[in-house]
Amino acid sequence: MDARLAPFPAHLQAPGTTDAPFEAVLDLARLPPGALCRVTRGDRDILVAHTPEGIVATDDRCPHMSAPLSIGELDGCVVACPLHEGRFDLSTGDPVQMPTTGGLDPDGVYHPTWTPGGRESKSDVPGKKAEARRLTRVRRLRYYPVRIVADRIEIALGPRPGDDLGGTP
Ligand code: FES
Repeated sequence: MDARLAPFPAHLQAPGTTDAPFEAVLDLARLPPGALCRVTRGDRDILVAHTPEGIVATDDRCPHMSAPLSIGELDGCVVACPLHEGRFDLSTGDPVQMPTTGGLDPDGVYHPTWTPGGRESKSDVPGKKAEARRLTRVRRLRYYPVRIVADRIEIALGPRPGDDLGGTP
């Protein structure tokens, strides 16, 4: 299968991945155009997506409350989270639709709660939970370098939390 790699914003590259070794994670044949797939290495879950721009890898954690984007829906380059209707552009890393819970966008701008069309709105009872929703900030996605070698998708995952990075104790 012919496939290309999607460019991603350089400032959103995952820390420690620039010189990290690549690891084979998936046969290319298992990721046709439009597909989403979760791969797991240790305690890290990665979303590999085949968008119209190409293949891209990011954390399989919604930038809102960490739900798995790999079981969401991909529409062009936009992935819809299965939990609170948040939608995220895999080509830019930005939210294109805030979650129904509202909260802060990546720039810290507040957005109110909202209800999808056709559904009855829930009351937002004041209290700690409402405050938590109001203060929860949706982050931008972060990306892992990807390459294709012999029909295998390889990703540079970088150091895992707890890896010995060789620093002075
Ligand atoms: S966890 Fe994804 S929109 Fe809330």
